[in-house]
This record gives sequence, structure tokens and C-alpha cells, in this order.
Amino acid sequence: MKNPQVIVDMSKLKHNLTFLSEKLQARGITVAAVTKVFSAHPELVVLYDSINSINYLADSRLDNFKNYPKNTTKEKLLLRIPMLTEVKELVETVDISLNSEIETIRAINQAAKDVNRTHQIILMIDLGDLREGVFDTAEIDCYVAEIIQMEAVQLIGIGVNLTCYGAIIPEYSILEQLTQHKQRLTKKHGVDLEIISGGNSSTLYLLDEENEGIPDGINMLRIGEAFVLGVETAYGKNIVDMYQDVFTLKAEIIEYRDKPSLPIGKVGQDAFGQRPTFIDKGMMKRGIVAIGKQDVDVSNITPKDSRLEVIGASSDHLILDFTQASDDYQLGDEILFDLSYGSLLSVFTSQYVKKVFI
Ligand SMILES: Cc1ncc(COP(=O)(O)O)c(C=O)c1O
Repeated sequence: MKNPQVIVDMSKLKHNLTFLSEKLQARGITVAAVTKVFSAHPELVVLYDSINSINYLADSRLDNFKNYPKNTTKEKLLLRIPMLTEVKELVETVDISLNSEIETIRAINQAAKDVNRTHQIILMIDLGDLREGVFDTAEIDCYVAEIIQMEAVQLIGIGVNLTCYGAIIPEYSILEQLTQHKQRLTKKHGVDLEIISGGNSSTLYLLDEENEGIPDGINMLRIGEAFVLGVETAYGKNIVDMYQDVFTLKAEIIEYRDKPSLPIGKVGQDAFGQRPTFIDKGMMKRGIVAIGKQDVDVSNITPKDSRLEVIGASSDHLILDFTQASDDYQLGDEILFDLSYGSLLSVFTSQYVKKVFI
């Protein structure tokens, strides 16, 4: 089957990877490049692994690391704090993980001892976004005191995640707290914390702030979205000199007809249990393209032809209003869409969308 496809422009992606990671490297910041947005597709992992200024490859799921080609060279970092039930797999699969629960860290220590390995961890501190991380300073101190006594777990750093649950913007004053934690922990416990991991693509806007940018001491970022979509995610602005159109979705018209805009009859629930509402725009040129909610987050795609409008979708069908461009299309034509983060995640997860690398 040819369609639907997600098309990846490899030279644009390579540019984005090199441009941003070199910029961060020049600022003394190491880069963990995130592969989950494309389900760690091996073709793209090879590209990521080949970029010298990328230091680590990161993913949120252990299963995705299993897609990595065997000869991948960079250290692997698990982003989602591990499940108690996966610690054995964790120590066998990756070098580093982010952690926030002492019970899990104890289990990792045991699992690593069992296979004669050392597992490195970055302790996550919650600075207000209220997703993962230890919140209380006294608790952080207790954790560190215990971890540094562990035989098979090595505490290599501390980190924060922001702009995920609470949508909190990483400001200088917030990131400075992380560097203060490092100073306190070094003084109190004599630990050498090599990594101070200051967040994700939402921290990038601070690179260009004249005052109060990224505090000295923040020396690692974990970057996913900025590489693939060329945007910073604190304010959703395009990053100058990066490409926003690395990925394109292509789907094919399977029905192209004049029909009314208003469904006829008593309105109940749609295929997803929602009660839809409609505006009567009279007759319109309606096209169905062969892709649906099973394949893509339809609320996060935009037709490249701005005259077309997405008006609805079910599991396998996407309906577009072609009225403004009706003479320019016909049955069998391929429609191109720009993708954003949610839709990119979904098309790479769908086995029904072909992946094409150009
Ligand atoms: C802990 C953590 N760090 C970093 C990232 C990367 O975030 P972004 O894609 O916004 O750069 C994610 C999500 O993928 C994450 O969960």
C-alpha cells in the first residue's frame, strides 16, 4: 500500500540536529536528543547517532530502545521514571535513567548488582510543574544520602522537567534553584554532580535572552520537539534558521462529491460518542481522504493548501471542505498536511502510515 505516508526530509532534519546541538555545545550544554516522537525509527536513530554534537540518545519507553540499531554508539537515557516492574530490563537496556522514587532506585540498585553492572541516575527535582520529581528539600537530602551509599547505582546528576503538566515556563529564577540544589548537595554530601539537566525544548527560548538567560551551571538539556519541528515550546515560536517542515503527511482522496454541509435527520452521537454540531454553509465540495483517528491526531494536522479545511474525522476517514479549491482536485489526488507534535507522535505510532525518508 502506498498511502498514507509520512515523508521525512532527512537533510532538513540533519540541519536542525546539527544547528541546535552545536549552538548548545558552544554554550557548554550537552544534549540528550529524544527519539520517542518518531517511535525510535531505526533510520532516524542512525541519523541522530551520527551527529557529533549530540551526547546522549533519550526515549521515554524501554521498548523504543529495542528498535535502536545494535551498533548505536551514544549513551542511552530513559526519560520516563521507571516502573518497579521494569528495573531488570532497565539496567540491561540503558545506561542512565531519570528517577524520583527511592523505592525504585533501591530496586534498580539490586537489579544492577544482580547483573554486575552500574546504573547511572539523574535525580529529578520538582520545581513547580508538578509532574515527576522530589518536591521537598529535606527529602532530596535523605535520598541523596542513601543513594551515594549504593553499590550499583551512581548518582551522576540532578534534573528538572517543566512545561509538561503545569505548563510552567522555565525562568532564570526557577533554573537557578536547580544550581543551588547542586551547590547545597555538594557541600552537604560531598557529591560530584556532573550533570545539571535543565529541562526540554521549553528552556531553549532562554538561549536568546540578554539578561537572566540559562543560569551558569545548567549543563544538559533533553531536546525532542525542537529538533523535529524547529520550535521552542515555552511560547511555541519558530526557531530562526531551523526548519519547521521536516515532516509531511500525505493521504489520498477516496471520495470527491458535492454534498450539503448539514447532515440530514435526527442528530445522535458520532463514532466517538460525541454529539457534533454543524453550521449550514449550503452545498459544498466534500472530499474524504483515507486516513483517520486511528492513524493520526486529526486536531493537530493542517492542509498545506490553505484553501482546504478539515471538517471532521472518524477512525478511518478524514473529511475536508474543498469548496474554495474544487476545480483543482479530483479523486485519487494526494493531499499534503503539516504536522505538529501530537500528530507526529501518532503517525509514527500507527502501523498503517508508511514511513518514507527522502
Ligand atoms: C523528562 C522529559 N525530558 C525531556 C523531554 C523532551 O521534551 P521536548 O520534546 O519538549 O523537548 C520529555 C518528553 O519527551 C520528557 O518527558
